[in-house]
Amino acid sequence: MTRRPYVAGNWKMNLDRASAVALARAVREHVGAQAPYDCALFAPAVYVAAVAEVLAGSPVKVGVQNVHDMASGAYTGEISVAMAKDVGAASALVGHSERRALFGEADAFLAKKAKAVLDGGLELVFCVGETLAEREAGRTEAVVETQLRLGLGALPRTDWTRVAIAYEPVWAIGTGRNATPAQAGEVHTFLRALVGKMVDAATAEALRIQYGGSVSAANAAELLAVPGIDGALVGGASLKIESLRAILDAARR
Ligand code: 13P
Repeated sequence: MTRRPYVAGNWKMNLDRASAVALARAVREHVGAQAPYDCALFAPAVYVAAVAEVLAGSPVKVGVQNVHDMASGAYTGEISVAMAKDVGAASALVGHSERRALFGEADAFLAKKAKAVLDGGLELVFCVGETLAEREAGRTEAVVETQLRLGLGALPRTDWTRVAIAYEPVWAIGTGRNATPAQAGEVHTFLRALVGKMVDAATAEALRIQYGGSVSAANAAELLAVPGIDGALVGGASLKIESLRAILDAARR
């Protein structure tokens, strides 16, 4: 089966309103009315509405980088799935290593968020990845398996059509040191087989697995050429239209 490539930009806590809007406009222009890949921009929550306005009528979607699992209530500083959707978000990231490591988000909480995202009608990009110490200890597969099983193990099969997984080795994020195509490819193959066991073979075959971690204009083509790498989740290089364009072009395969 050929899976439609899926390239997403995770802007993290960067840009201001004017530059977010300008960047979204440039992406919209580059992608055009139709492209042979899917594209989403995960904007800071406060700019989602402005970016959604720019992207209206375009195949490029806007997403949020974080949501809370509860629908409403006394959760100062948080936003619900319904709120994100209300301002135009089509998708949400859950399980990013920065949320796990810097904000203490544990697997059980991430599972609740993933469920809330899907129950709320959004698409989900669920991130997994090992630290350098875990890789060096030979624990990469065990770590991503635990993250995936605890995060998405309870999802009904029908929800998986709105799920993408991002494999983001922590040691590759923001370091300029990307996983090699072979290293990423191995983990993608492992994750797809795991989803085959957790859900079923057809779901595993249809699932898009993005690679994230120092994806750049220079390395995108060789990473995306690996059969099990179905796209990219791009941090730093998604903040500049020149590099993002090159990565999108690498997804035209
Ligand atoms: P970089 O592309 O900056 O390494 O970030 C990757 C990432 O964390 C995307 O979610």
